[in-house]
Amino acid sequence: MVKGVVVSLVLVGAAPRFLPAEPKEEDAAVERTRRTVRMLDDVYKAAVVLITDKYVHDEDDFPAGSAAIALFDAVRKKGWHDVRLLDVTGEPYDAKNRPRDEFEKKAAEQLRKGRDYVESIESTPDGRFLRAATAIPVVMPKCTMCHPHYKDVPAGRAVGMLSYRLRIE
Ligand code: HEC
Repeated sequence: MVKGVVVSLVLVGAAPRFLPAEPKEEDAAVERTRRTVRMLDDVYKAAVVLITDKYVHDEDDFPAGSAAIALFDAVRKKGWHDVRLLDVTGEPYDAKNRPRDEFEKKAAEQLRKGRDYVESIESTPDGRFLRAATAIPVVMPKCTMCHPHYKDVPAGRAVGMLSYRLRIE
């Protein structure tokens, strides 16, 4: 067993391109984990859009972003997975939402350039983990009510990302 943390960084545009014709067992585990990320990503993003659409009417309302952060804390405390809502524009609403480690910083750079998915596999003494980052574009005009600088970002480009860390099992 290798001591310390070995990080192999693989950047891809879209997950399915990674799939070999006949996946080995360990590749099948990676693909299962990717599938979970895709499912979580759809669920979390649908919830944020729904809350923003139905409950957030002016700047004083409790933002879906804050609700998502509270939800992600609860999910982490239950021991399921790590997921963070982060800025990629360089001007976060809250400084704690900046990309933190090397993976998140590189992913933010790639998403800003127009990719919609970035991933990396981390091998640690504690097992393997899938790091994944998915783009958050300005999905509705209401987003700019509280983040006015999003108006300067080209349409469809990422303003934020969800950063995931899931155990590969
Ligand atoms: C009512 C005001 C409001 C609206 C509307 C709003 N946000 Fe936010 N957003 C916030 C606040 C406040 C935070 C900081 C939350 C925290 O750290 O607890 C935040 C955080 C974020 C973050 C994390 C990075 C950062 O800036 O801190 C992203 C990305 C984000 N929002 C994207 C969006 C998108 C996309 C939309 C439209 C679907 C949206 N927001 C709508 C207020 C808002």
